[in-house]
This record gives sequence, C-alpha cells and structure tokens, in this order.
Amino acid sequence: MRTITWDDEKQVMQMIDQRILPQELKILSYDNYQDIAEAIRVMVVRGAPAIGVAAAYGMALAAVRSKATTREALLADLQTAGEALNQARPTAVNLFWAVKRMQQAAQAVEGSPDEIREALVRLAGEMADKDVATNKRMAEYGAALIEDGDTIVHHCNTGALATVDWGTALGVIRMAHEQSKKIHVFVDETRPRLQGARLTAWELEQYGIPYDIITDGASGLMMRKGLVQKVFFGADRVAANGDVANKIGSYMLALAAYDNGIPAYSVFPISTVDLELERGDLIPIEERDPEEVLALSLMGHRVTPEKASARNFAFDVTPNRLLSGWVTEKGVIKPPFKENLLAALEVEGAL
Ligand code: MRU
Repeated sequence: MRTITWDDEKQVMQMIDQRILPQELKILSYDNYQDIAEAIRVMVVRGAPAIGVAAAYGMALAAVRSKATTREALLADLQTAGEALNQARPTAVNLFWAVKRMQQAAQAVEGSPDEIREALVRLAGEMADKDVATNKRMAEYGAALIEDGDTIVHHCNTGALATVDWGTALGVIRMAHEQSKKIHVFVDETRPRLQGARLTAWELEQYGIPYDIITDGASGLMMRKGLVQKVFFGADRVAANGDVANKIGSYMLALAAYDNGIPAYSVFPISTVDLELERGDLIPIEERDPEEVLALSLMGHRVTPEKASARNFAFDVTPNRLLSGWVTEKGVIKPPFKENLLAALEVEGAL
C-alpha cells in the first residue's frame, strides 16, 4: 500500500494520516496545495522522500485548481504555491527539490495552461513511481551489507511510510529479510513523536521482521554488550562533505556506534544530497513546538511541571567521519563522500 496516491478521476491526492498510526489507518484526501502545506507542517505526512512527493502533488494541485487562463498567470500562481509549500518544514531538502523541479517543468512547457496542468500531474506521478524504484535499488545495495544473524539498530521511521513505498533504511532491512537473512531490529522509540515506537514497529510487524523497541538512550549499552552488529538510519539532507542531517538522536547513535567499532550507514536517494551546502553545520535545523516534548503522560498524568519549558530540535547532524558508508541508488558510497559520490554520478569536477 502506498503512503501517497493520486485519484485521477477526482483530481485529489490521498495520504495516510501518520499522526494516528498504529491505532487507526485513516486516509485523508487533499484537493489544494494550502492544505498539503499544512499537512506537511503538522506531520500528517513526514519522512524526507514522502514530503517531497506530497509537495510535488501540491504543485500539481495548485496548477489544477488555478483559475489562470494564461501561461504567465499560471506560472505566477505556481510561484506563490511553491513559496507556501517551501515554508512547511525547513530541513528535508527533498521538499525544495520537488517544488523546484515542478516549477522548472512548468516553465519548460511551451503550450497552454491546460498542457502545463497535465504535465505537472504527470510529473508528480512519475516522481512517486521513481521514488519506489529508487528505494528498491538502494535496498538491494544496502542489503548486501547485512549478514545472516545481524542485529541492527534503526532510528526514526524510514520505511514505506516515510517514502511513497518500500522505504530507505528500513527498506534495506526489509530487503535483507526478504533475502531470507535472519535479522533482528532494535527500534529506537524516537522521542518526542515516537516515529520508531509507532510507525517502524507497525511496519516491522507487517513484514514479519522480529524487533524490540528500545529507549533512545539504550543503544550504547546494547552495543557494549555485543548485541548490535550494524546501525542504519535515513537522511533528511546530506551536505556535500557527507555530513548527514537526520532525526534528532542520530548523531548520538552514530557516536556510540563509532566508539564501539560498529558500522553505521545512512540510506538516502541522491535527491537528498544538497551539493550547495559544503558541510552539515550549514543545514537548517527545524525547531518544533516545545509542547511535543512536554506533553508526556505516565499512568494518565502529565509528568512535566506546569511551567516547564523545553527545546525541541527535530534533527541533528552526524559528521561524515562517524559513518562507514552512504547507501544510495548509485551504490554504497565509501569515504571520502564527495569524491566518491561525484565519481558515482559521473560528474567529476562539478563542484
Ligand atoms: O520528522 P520526520 O518524521 O519527518 O523525520 C524523518 C526522518 O528523520 C527520517 O529518518 C528521514 O526523513 C529519512 S526517511 C526516508
């Protein structure tokens, strides 16, 4: 089942509401870009590749619903829509990448407004299909790193839900399982929104992969006890030097892995690489509502003092030196990232 689908007859986009999983599997319909921007902001849809495809459909819907009768007026409406979508969340570069691609595609159509509308709906569909194909290719490359009997720590949710289907890091794990490798997953619960405990655990259950949920700080102990062989997580934006912005806690996990000589891999499509940013410190880090951290209940009671304050950074940056490799659809990139990525892309000297 895809996380994001398009209904051609009704001209609406449908998405799984990821805020209420696993208690309820509910599909929401969207017929305008403003609501899609809000859905990205409040995390109905989340995960870098899924956000990118949702934004692409947002642009397609902006074109479909626009009353513009001239090419210029439609392009102006798409500019407005792109600005609104771009403000939804700051870290995952796939959002900006998708909006830009849709705007460039619209500009490239010489024909009528209706021809632009058709082209954008078609391109959003192609981007959705490509996401699934890319994920499966990454999964093949990544699964080769997993050995029979491995126990893997996984952070956040990087599965079918974080993409259109199949997933990035979790897709690698799923592929290894489908290749009949016996694996076990330690699922970081991923405070504060619990993408691991809610979404990754739910997905692993669908795939029949054995797992235990662990608290976010537990992986160091598991590693010291010799219970962990690999670490896999995704990426929301990768700087040109291979520094990886990903869900808060990824850096601590990679540090613990490095200290214990355990290989840690980040899995992402090339569209998550931002070659314009030289290093990870330049990646904008989203800070969300403190209430996400504070609204924690135990035994039916809110645990934090009434006047407590909190900081809620949604992502952190893992320096490239802590990673053993970067799994992409072009293969597993080994250090040094930039040189080997460019070689894989066959665009040496492009920077
Ligand atoms: O805040 P989220 O849930 O959108 O964060 C998602 C992640 O950090 C994922 O690990 C990342 O997008 C890569 S998943 C394909």
